[in-house]
Amino acid sequence: MANQAADRPRVGVYPGSFDPPTNGHLDIIRRATRVVNKLIVGVAVNPSKDALFTIGERVKIVEQEIAAIDHGLSGRVEVRAFEGLLMHYVRDVGATIIIRGLRAVTDFDYEFQMTGMNARLDPEIETVFLMASESHQFISSRMVKEIGVLGGNITSFVSAAVAKSLTARIAERQSSK
Ligand code: PNS
Repeated sequence: MANQAADRPRVGVYPGSFDPPTNGHLDIIRRATRVVNKLIVGVAVNPSKDALFTIGERVKIVEQEIAAIDHGLSGRVEVRAFEGLLMHYVRDVGATIIIRGLRAVTDFDYEFQMTGMNARLDPEIETVFLMASESHQFISSRMVKEIGVLGGNITSFVSAAVAKSLTARIAERQSSK
């Protein structure tokens, strides 16, 4: 008997704040396309976080970053904003897999709890973790922003384009204070 689930294209959602997208995020996006046929990068509106970039800017930056690493990926990866509960969004777009990147042990508690809660909400959706590559283990958007605000060099954590946008936005914020 044919396995219908196996015949269907495997759609995954890679959710996150992407404020800003780092080299680590881009590495996960590239590798996630080996696991799913189609990947939706879900950029969370996340009203509780004070984002440096607007939702529209973050979607655009992620799109540009994907096009810059590999034009071939653009056909299989879509970047969309999402608001509300992740599990509702995953269902709405017809995905069956959530992709998350995992760095060292520090992410584990948070990811373990989130995966457990999400699994309760919808046990048919699987969360798949990709271990961050060795060179990206320590990169976090939050720390990249902090280093940027304090005038440190962020060029080994984000692309040149993101570094430029980030530096400009930080300067804008500091001059309006
Ligand atoms: O990049 P981040 O900030 O670690 O991503 C966190 C994100 C966006 C995946 C998480 O906050 C999320 O899923 N937000 C949507 C709201 C939701 O579903 N909350 C319940 C999680 S158990």
